[in-house]
Amino acid sequence: MDTRTLFRRNPDLLLEWDDDSGSVLVDSRSGRKFVAKPELVDLLGRLDGPLTADELNARWPHQTDADTTRTLLERLASAGIVRHDDKEDTEPAADGLTPYERACHAGAGRGPLPGTRRGTPPPARLCHPEATGTVPLPDARDLPSRALAEVLSERRSVRDFAAEPVPLMLLAAFLDRSARVRGYLPPRSYEQTQRPAPSGGARHSLEIYLVARDVEQLPPGAYHYDAFDHALHRLSDWNDDLAALQHRTITLPALLNEAPPAGLYLASRADRTGWKYAGMALSMIYRDTGCLLQTMCLTATDLGLASCPTGRMEVPVSAPFLQPYEQRLLHVGNLALGLPDPAATTTAPTPTELPAGA
Ligand SMILES: Cc1cc2nc3c(=O)[nH]c(=O)nc-3n(C[C@H](O)[C@H](O)[C@H](O)COP(=O)(O)O)c2cc1C
Repeated sequence: MDTRTLFRRNPDLLLEWDDDSGSVLVDSRSGRKFVAKPELVDLLGRLDGPLTADELNARWPHQTDADTTRTLLERLASAGIVRHDDKEDTEPAADGLTPYERACHAGAGRGPLPGTRRGTPPPARLCHPEATGTVPLPDARDLPSRALAEVLSERRSVRDFAAEPVPLMLLAAFLDRSARVRGYLPPRSYEQTQRPAPSGGARHSLEIYLVARDVEQLPPGAYHYDAFDHALHRLSDWNDDLAALQHRTITLPALLNEAPPAGLYLASRADRTGWKYAGMALSMIYRDTGCLLQTMCLTATDLGLASCPTGRMEVPVSAPFLQPYEQRLLHVGNLALGLPDPAATTTAPTPTELPAGA
């Protein structure tokens, strides 16, 4: 055995509490589990940098003989609990994911867990009884629409907004076309709805909150979009906290010069998806978010609205008007919305042409 061999802890190992075996070490990449004996956890705690068996032995009070430590490390290496510290291991993970992200992905691949779909599914509809008023949205079905191919080729993330209010009719058309509930899917007891964007298992966990700074006929403030009644329920007046939320979730991440006239704050009622997909629910929710954002971006382009998604997520839910729902909602994304600035020479980068044959 080479005494210069360097060892270090498998960086994908996470400590978990298991119902049957007590604490276990889980390799987040492979999903393999190992009993987490206290001496082993202690040894691994000392192995986060590359060490030879001699170096580890000098630091680890449980061993006094370097050869025994080396034999133990080789056994742990063949089990995948420690690694030989070769070049590949000293470089950052090639996929750029943390062990927690890999664990989440691996879990999603194994899900859903047994025992899902038990009990009554959470309702498809979230009501806000604390709302202080309701704004029915106008019927915008007569607004024209363009060819899909044209809309797809024009869609861009636009970050230059006109200093004009968003017409309520355009906002109504936008919400109607991108998010309104069209009906329930059978069986009715499953609380599954059909909407413009697809959703895993038709669970549709995403709730849409409008942070309206400058929308025609709408007092500035925060609103919940009622996708069943096609109405806005008023949750908050405009105030400094709302302005700060808009700044953190949209203006700053999209590098805008000023707040957009309107923004959407998307939040998931995770239990709706978890009822059917526990174990892979988070990944389902993220994918649903992508589907909804894309549907919204295309709808905005079709209607001549400027939109830009932002990926900022605040944990726990930080919208001041959602404080009572902090335990029930996950913030998953945002969309800036407004009329495009006609004077703007677009700040969106132009793609370079693909070389022939690429
Ligand atoms: C999930 C997601 C998150 C995004 N987050 C941001 C963001 O935080 N800030 C931003 O300026 N753009 C954001 N964007 C927009 C992208 O930067 C944009 O789509 C990309 O640059 C390509 O440009 P295009 O949309 O005009 O084709 C996001 C897009 C997606 C799909």
